[in-house]
Amino acid sequence: MQVAQSLTRVTASATDTALVKAAAKFPTAVWLDRIAAIDGAKSTGGAMGLVDHLDAAVAQQKAQSGSTLKPMTIQLVVYDLPDRDCAALASNGELSSANDGMTKYKTLYIDRIAEILARPAYAGLRIVAVIEPDSFPNMLTNVGIGKTVCDSVNSKGVYVQGIQYTLNKLSTLKNVYMYLDIAHSGWLGWDNNRAKAIDGFKTLVKGATPSGNLGIIRGFASNTANYTPLDEPYFDGTDNNVKSGGTTEFYEWNRMIDELSYTDKLRSEFVAAGFPDTLSFIIDTSRNGWGSPKRPTGPAADVDDMRIDRRAARGNWCNVKDTGIGERPRANPDATRTHLDAFVFVKPPGASDGTSDSTATTPNAEGKRFDAMCGSGNVDALSGAPHAGQWFHDQFLMLLRNASPAIK
Ligand code: BGC
Repeated sequence: MQVAQSLTRVTASATDTALVKAAAKFPTAVWLDRIAAIDGAKSTGGAMGLVDHLDAAVAQQKAQSGSTLKPMTIQLVVYDLPDRDCAALASNGELSSANDGMTKYKTLYIDRIAEILARPAYAGLRIVAVIEPDSFPNMLTNVGIGKTVCDSVNSKGVYVQGIQYTLNKLSTLKNVYMYLDIAHSGWLGWDNNRAKAIDGFKTLVKGATPSGNLGIIRGFASNTANYTPLDEPYFDGTDNNVKSGGTTEFYEWNRMIDELSYTDKLRSEFVAAGFPDTLSFIIDTSRNGWGSPKRPTGPAADVDDMRIDRRAARGNWCNVKDTGIGERPRANPDATRTHLDAFVFVKPPGASDGTSDSTATTPNAEGKRFDAMCGSGNVDALSGAPHAGQWFHDQFLMLLRNASPAIK
């Protein structure tokens, strides 16, 4: 629907028209980002709900199959925790733990999703569920530093309780493959943060079912809605490249400089910590292509002159400039990395990360508001951005034009 709207806006350019038409075929995840997203509003011309999407997937599967059904995957994002995304303001969401949010999350949201996914009509689909982006990693890294919501969700166990409920419910559905959000290398990549994450996620998954089975999740999803490259082609994460100070401030001693090195490392550390050997990863490549004219084309003496991640700081997450679509979604993308299940487009390219309007300080009905990371004070953030999740045509076009590999 939104791509069609962008198509009407690019008619003057044959190149852009071709890009937008190609983008209409990209599979992206369905974000169940509020209770109302489950039903959607298709009958009144609004967005498709969960049943609509599942029915469409079944219809597509039938159309593409002969007498035996071919596998068909649909990707969902479970994203409505109470007090969501405790360290930022752009996407806090509709539910508050102080206002009975946990009961609502369980009964009006997770129970309904689980009931729909369990319907026999959908038993032939492979359902990928990316569980709760941002919140748990934010809690892991932002407790005790003055972020009051992070301190409170931590002490009250809000995220742990909510995510464990979700894992427990969905673990009974054999065709649901759960991937917990594991942030990205520029966030949890440092040795101390990874250690915290491995501990935290192990306790989280263990406590979700009475058996403590760590195999209830298929694995982890990295880089969801972020811009971190799969691979920095011209250097690696050795000390000389990641040191702080001088011209190589960018990595601040974080040796995980890209998503491939990060997921490789996590995979061996999680398995060493007791997760089963089947533990797998998916990586969101929807916006990490970095194919703008500013992309370096070869090695240089200085890391800053050869990194393809052109952000001023790796922590910048909002509507980042000079970014492009990354590797196209596909299963088993790397024969040398059997733990990589797929490159996926979790964040739909063109959906905003947050409003750039600094006056929008009161949360709207979806709990969206201004975060300084999205404003003019951040050199990396595009201006003219609507609220998180809303369509941002200019960003969409930028991402298509800067795609790497280029869109053919
Ligand atoms: C927003 C969601 C939206 C998602 C995908 C998030 O930042 O908060 O409402 O569905 O991005 O665009």
